[in-house]
Amino acid sequence: MLLEIKENPDPILRKKTAKIKDALAPEVQQLILNMTETMQKIKGVGLAANQVGLSLRLCVIEVEKEIYTLINPKITAKSKKRFQSEEGCFSFPGIYLTVPRANEVQVRFLNKEGKPQKIKASGLLSSALQHEIDHLDGVLFIDRIKKPKVEKTQTQTN
Ligand code: CO
Repeated sequence: MLLEIKENPDPILRKKTAKIKDALAPEVQQLILNMTETMQKIKGVGLAANQVGLSLRLCVIEVEKEIYTLINPKITAKSKKRFQSEEGCFSFPGIYLTVPRANEVQVRFLNKEGKPQKIKASGLLSSALQHEIDHLDGVLFIDRIKKPKVEKTQTQTN
């Protein structure tokens, strides 16, 4: 089933999501299927549960044809080195930003079978993990860019 995407400024996007207690609960498993189907249909790299209106700590990511289901993910390590990541977000249709992200991250989570997993990622997977885990904390990619300096507009005198 395709799910409706919540767009900015929907307040659910700003709320920290709740941990999932039972990864194997039928409603959680159904949500995973629906989120995966929705992400693939809209050709997305990732989707967080609060983007489809459920404030739960769950996201799905697809990078290089591999699908990752992350339940209760947590970033456990982050490289100091950063890179500029070109990102879009389904909650901000048509907006693309260059966001500084850590080159490498390590993430702990439960997979869809409820088994604890640890991954180390770089490149697109690293930025996708940071973008989606930010969503689960109520943080949006617009928060990660430097605010442009406000410059005084020169008044034309002639
Ligand atoms: Co997003």
